[in-house]
Amino acid sequence: MKLELLKYPDARLRRKSEPVAEITEEIRTLARDMVETMYAEEGIGLAAPQVNRPLRLLVIDLSGPSLREGATVYINPELEILDDEKTESEEGCLSVPDLRAPVKRGARVRVKALNLEGIPFTEEADEVKAICLQHEYDHLEGILFLDHLSRLKRNLYAHKRKKLLKEENS
Ligand code: NI
Repeated sequence: MKLELLKYPDARLRRKSEPVAEITEEIRTLARDMVETMYAEEGIGLAAPQVNRPLRLLVIDLSGPSLREGATVYINPELEILDDEKTESEEGCLSVPDLRAPVKRGARVRVKALNLEGIPFTEEADEVKAICLQHEYDHLEGILFLDHLSRLKRNLYAHKRKKLLKEENS
């Protein structure tokens, strides 16, 4: 089932998510629905708080909605930036419509998480995957990619978005 996405400036995107206490059938269904939603919205990653479930759960499939080579589910992920090297790339977010902007992040990360069977796994990632993991992990902390932009850019977007929402509702 495709889930509804929360969008900026929805305050629920700003909550800090809670750990998944137990991998129940409900959590497995949520993960499946998140993958479906990610593909339907043409994203490569999605975090549970974006679908109004403040839980520490991410799904990522870098191959995207057309290839669907396989989504990875990360439950209660712990993220470590491996060195001082930075990388900059243009990011967008399904919860932040009509904005793409360059963001600087750690170039290499290590993530420890549980899979849907509750088995711990560790991954090291660079390039797009490292960026995507940092972006999605931020959502669990209530952080959006636009928080990494300059205040000027952030304010411009906030203003544009407010105006658009006002127009839609009038
Ligand atoms: Ni996002």
